[in-house]
Amino acid sequence: MSSYEIAVLPGDGIGGEVMPEALRVLDAVAGEYGTSFTFRHFDWSCETYRETGRMMPEDGLDRLRDHDSILLGAVGYPGVPDHVSLWGLLLPIRREFDQYVNLRPVRLLPGVTPPVRDKQPGDIDFWVVRENTEGEYSRLGGRQGEGTPAEMVLQTAVFTRHGTDRILRYAFEFAERIGKPHVTSGTKSNGIYHSMPYWDERFRAIAAEHPDVAVDQDHIDILCARFVMSPERFDVVVASNLFGDILSDLGPGVTGTIGVAPSGNINPERRFPSTFEPVHGSAPDIAGRGIANPIGQIWSAAMMLDHLGEQEAGAHVVRAIESVLAAGAVRTPDLGGTASTEDLGKAIAAEITG
Ligand code: NAI
Ligand code: MG
Repeated sequence: MSSYEIAVLPGDGIGGEVMPEALRVLDAVAGEYGTSFTFRHFDWSCETYRETGRMMPEDGLDRLRDHDSILLGAVGYPGVPDHVSLWGLLLPIRREFDQYVNLRPVRLLPGVTPPVRDKQPGDIDFWVVRENTEGEYSRLGGRQGEGTPAEMVLQTAVFTRHGTDRILRYAFEFAERIGKPHVTSGTKSNGIYHSMPYWDERFRAIAAEHPDVAVDQDHIDILCARFVMSPERFDVVVASNLFGDILSDLGPGVTGTIGVAPSGNINPERRFPSTFEPVHGSAPDIAGRGIANPIGQIWSAAMMLDHLGEQEAGAHVVRAIESVLAAGAVRTPDLGGTASTEDLGKAIAAEITG
């Protein structure tokens, strides 16, 4: 029997409401597959910050390091500036644990009406692979002549051979693994003179290692338009940190609700634990009312199962989510229903245990 130690960080706001539902579903699926989970709970949050002045203890990363995976809710709450909560917890985990892949599915689920008309489940079903450690998100640059008419600011993007090749290679290998051998690269090599032509050059080089995978590339502007106009054309979309950040919110936006979207921050070499978390944040506007959609958190747990090597269990959880949504009886308010967070979590767990 395989057993896993999972670090559980619900974080702030609705994180504490959707997390128990993901753990409920994990326990349900564990029973079916002879797997067991030990959940270690860490209450690190903006509340911790207000009490201690830190988002996590000084040895926080060391305490997480030996877990098989990290399951995260959402971090950030009014009263603590967002850059403090983000740089105090989430970004150190992503960077220190070299989680250089940010993997996000974009899938129209049954029973969800998309803002784009006439699309059916199956029409929208692709993955965004975002570079998660370098690119446009760097601290290199500076200001000079502050307060004078000559004031200037420089912000430098960083594209290393190591960082570029490994994310592109991950995208190709992932496309092969999921049986959709087609990769689209997001670029902007017409306007950005150095980094994006380099990105294209490395894309061609890595593509040459995978002759069985079909490739195309779009400039980021038309790529955004095509996410909306013809989402059925995509299977795996790989992009730099900034472009991938934008695309991976646009994708779930096109499928109708942010409440169902999951993500993985993955260290493919498994030298460190990976983190699985919903795309959404702590939703202060609905926190405390028990109405948040738990599917983003539950689907994140399914991605975690897949990463841990429990692919069948992960697929089972996704099928249960789809069945419950297709049946339509249990929906949270963001899907037009009146069910609570717990109702929907329990319905998905019950679908698994039969
Ligand atoms: P948000 O995702 O928390 O909320 C945006 C809108 O979506 C709100 O109207 C909210 O009610 C709704 N929503 C989000 N999740 C939902 C769910 N599961 N079910 C139903 N409705 C849902 O984004 P916002 O308002 O920009 O950020 C709030 C806080 O969360 C900020 O402190 C922000 O920094 C943090 N945040 C944290 C993230 C993380 O931990 N990775 C990601 C995004 C935001
Ligand atoms: Mg984002």
